Amino acid sequence: MVDRTRPRTCLAVVLAAGEGTRMRSALPKVLHRIAGRSLLAHVLAAVQAAGGSSVAVVVGPDADAVSTEAKRNAAAAEIHIQSERRGTAHAVLAAKGALTRGADDVLVIFGDTPLIRPQTLLQMRDALAKGAAVAVLGFRPKEPTGYGRLVMDGNNLVAIREELDATPAERAIDLCNGGLMAFAGATALSILEKIGNDNRKAEFYLTDAVAIARTMKLKSVVIETEEDDVRGINTKAQLAETETALQQRLRKAAMEAGVTLVAPETVFLATDTKFGRDVVVEPFVVFGPGVTVEDNAVIRSFSHLDQAHVGRGTLVGPYARLRPGAKLGADVHIGNFVEIKESIIEDGAKANHLAYIGDARLGAGSNFGAGAIVCNYDGAAKYRTDIGKGAFIGSNAALVAPVSIGDGAYVATGSVITDDVPANALAIARERQVVKADGASRIWAIKAAAKAKSGAKK
Ligand code: UD1
Ligand code: MG
Repeated sequence: MVDRTRPRTCLAVVLAAGEGTRMRSALPKVLHRIAGRSLLAHVLAAVQAAGGSSVAVVVGPDADAVSTEAKRNAAAAEIHIQSERRGTAHAVLAAKGALTRGADDVLVIFGDTPLIRPQTLLQMRDALAKGAAVAVLGFRPKEPTGYGRLVMDGNNLVAIREELDATPAERAIDLCNGGLMAFAGATALSILEKIGNDNRKAEFYLTDAVAIARTMKLKSVVIETEEDDVRGINTKAQLAETETALQQRLRKAAMEAGVTLVAPETVFLATDTKFGRDVVVEPFVVFGPGVTVEDNAVIRSFSHLDQAHVGRGTLVGPYARLRPGAKLGADVHIGNFVEIKESIIEDGAKANHLAYIGDARLGAGSNFGAGAIVCNYDGAAKYRTDIGKGAFIGSNAALVAPVSIGDGAYVATGSVITDDVPANALAIARERQVVKADGASRIWAIKAAAKAKSGAKK
C-alpha cells in the first residue's frame, strides 16, 4: 500500500551539460540570464518550488562556473559530471548515485527550459502519485519539426519517436515531447538502465523509457501543457524570445497584484521584483534583481533600479539610477540624473537633480542640491559620508568622504567640504567673489580694439 499520509520525496535531476555552441559565447548556455537571473537559477527555483527535496545537477567536464551557480541557487545541490555527451538518458545516469539513494518521484529537467512552472512539475508528480511509472510533458508546437513525437494508442502513450528515427506517419503527429519527464522512483533506475543506443544518432535517448516501461507493463502518461513551459534555448534569438515571454508573465502578475504599468510592454522586471499597492510605474523603466517598491511609490520614466528599496509614497525619476544598496525611505524625492549607491535616504529627504550619492546617509528631511556629489572614492578605497536630519547641501557642493554633516547644518553652494560640519553650523568652502565696478566695460573695450586691429590687417 502507498502511504498517502507521508509527503512524497522528490529528486530532481537537472541536465545542464549543454555545450551551448550555438549561443556563440564564452559563457556556458545555462548561465545566460533572463529577467535578472541565469537560466539554471530559474529552473532550480521551479524545481524547489515543486518540492524537489534533493537536487542533482549534471554538468559537463570543466563546468566549475555552472556548479558554483547551481550551489548558489540550491544549497543542497549535488553536482554530477557527464564526461562525454552520449544522450539524455546517459546524462541522467551520470547522477546514478543520487538515483540509487532513491526518492518517490524523480523529475528530469533540462537546464535550458527556464519557463517551466512549478505547477506543471506538480502535475507530473501527481500523475506518479496516481500510479504512473513515467509522466511525459506533451505540447502542440506551431512547428513540430525537430521534436520527439508522442505515439499514442487511444489514450495510452506507447512510445516517443525522435524526429530522425520517425516514419512519415509518425512525423505527422502534432503532439510533441517537451523533453522533461518524471519517473516513479521505485522503477526509474531499472527502466533507465535498459535504454540502449540503437538509433540514428547512436545516443542513449531518455525518450526510449516509454517503450521500455511498456514492455515492463508499467504505465506512461502524457501531461499536455503550453509551449512556454518547455521552451528550450539554443540561440541568442531564442534567449530574447524567452525573455519576452517571461516579461509578459511578470508584467501580468504585477498588474494582477495591483501595480499600474502605464505601458507594460516597455517595463522590464526581474522575477523577484516586489511591489506594494498602488505603485505606478511609468513607461521605460528597468528593474534589475532584488528591488522592492512599497505602497504608493511612483517610478517615473527611464529609471533603472537594481537591488534597491523604494519606500512608501516615494518618487523616483524620471532618469534616476538606483544601484545596489540604495535604500529609500518614505516620501523621498529622487529626481532626474540622480545616482544612488549603497546609501540610506531617510524619510522625506530630497535629491532632485544631477547628483551622486554613494556610501552615504542622507538624514530625514535633508536636501541634497543640484549638481552636488559625495566624493566617496580616492582611487584606492571608499569612505562614508553622513548627512544629518534637515541638513541642506547647496548646489554643486563636493563632500569629500569620510566626512559628516550634522543635523540642520548648511553647506554653501559650490563648497568643497573636507572637514566635518557640526550640527546647525554653516560651512562655506569656496573663493570669495570679487566685483570690479566698470570691469566689464574695460574688457569689452580691449576686445573691440583687438578685433579692429586684426580686421585692419586683412
Ligand atoms: C529532447 C528530446 C525530444 C524533445 C526535445 C524537447 C531526447 C532524446 N529527446 O531532444 O524528444 O522533443 O528534447 O526540447 O531526450 N543533454 C545532456 N547530455 C547529453 C545530451 C543532452 O546533458 O548527452 C542535455 C542538454 O544539455 C539539454 C537536454 O539534455 O539540456 C536535452 O538535450 P537536447 O540535445 O537539447 O535534446 P533534443 O534533441 O532537443
Ligand atoms: Mg533541445
